[in-house]
Amino acid sequence: MSAVQTLAVIGAGQMGGGIGQVAALAGLNVIVYDSFPGATDKCRAGYEKMFPKSVEKAKKLLDDADASKAKPEPQELEFARRALSGGGAALSRVKFVSTLEDLAGADWVVEAVVEDAKVKKDIFATLVSILPDERVVLASNTSSISITDIATAAGPHAHRVVGMHFFNPVALMKLVEIIPALQSSQEVLERTRQLSLHLGKTPLRANDRAGFVSNRVLMPMINEAFYAWMEGVAEPEAIDGIMKLGCNFPMGPLRLADFIGLDTCVHIMNVLADGLNNDRYRACPLLKQLVIAGRLGDKVGRGVYELSKK
Ligand code: NAI
Repeated sequence: MSAVQTLAVIGAGQMGGGIGQVAALAGLNVIVYDSFPGATDKCRAGYEKMFPKSVEKAKKLLDDADASKAKPEPQELEFARRALSGGGAALSRVKFVSTLEDLAGADWVVEAVVEDAKVKKDIFATLVSILPDERVVLASNTSSISITDIATAAGPHAHRVVGMHFFNPVALMKLVEIIPALQSSQEVLERTRQLSLHLGKTPLRANDRAGFVSNRVLMPMINEAFYAWMEGVAEPEAIDGIMKLGCNFPMGPLRLADFIGLDTCVHIMNVLADGLNNDRYRACPLLKQLVIAGRLGDKVGRGVYELSKK
């Protein structure tokens, strides 16, 4: 099985940006594409700030492990060693592009655009003509949409499609949830596991049901927090404080919604409601209203909370 050399991300937002960052630190060449003018510039500016910090973080992890202050997983140690030795040149390994055709030459793609099945399927349908080589894996970072359905857009290339679900912020979160499409080949699944390890992550498998494991469990809880707020059970600070102190959550559910993106939360709830065929998964009206008002969370500076006040 050949090792990945060039990883392309589609969508330079919170997730695509983070996936590209980790891949470049791991020594891969990275191509970052976004259809929105300005998104790649913002991503590049983020990298200029983040890469030196990531190298520092890698050094600290290795020092702490040497001093027995931390017990990282073997793949985290390997990743930190790679980031320390080659991370200084990480930005020079990243190419920012403005058309899908510019992804030709990549041997792995992770799609991370808006959580909308039609948009994603259009991209996968186009990708197979740009990257016809059988060995190129076409992964989606979708939070909830059926991988089997996305894979149908790749027609006879459906076996190359897989769910590769990273978590936010990608540089810090250790998990990759791997979701096989019904069509995914065993080889693609094994290579996805290996690439996840190469990026310092722990891969865990979930089946292709709406929301997989993570968002099937997490998102209804976040939605319920919006209902609690809407119905006057408590104000956001109290809801988050109670869940942090009472349930030992590192972050309250409303603060987490801001972090994820309120628009993404609505999209995921829609997928759960449709996919599990149950209206109890419908997005809370207050959550939808905040999205309509443009209060999408941290990525725009305002959601449940104002970022400057956090
Ligand atoms: P985001 O809103 O930060 O970024 C999405 C990017 O995709 C934007 O820059 C947008 O310009 C670009 N885009 C939209 N349509 C496009 C197209 N047709 N072609 C190229 N670029 C396009 O969203 P975020 O948070 O990065 O989410 C992206 C994906 O990752 C979604 O599927 C989401 O469900 C998933 N995800 C999100 C997580 C989160 O915590 N935000 C966690 C794990 C997965």
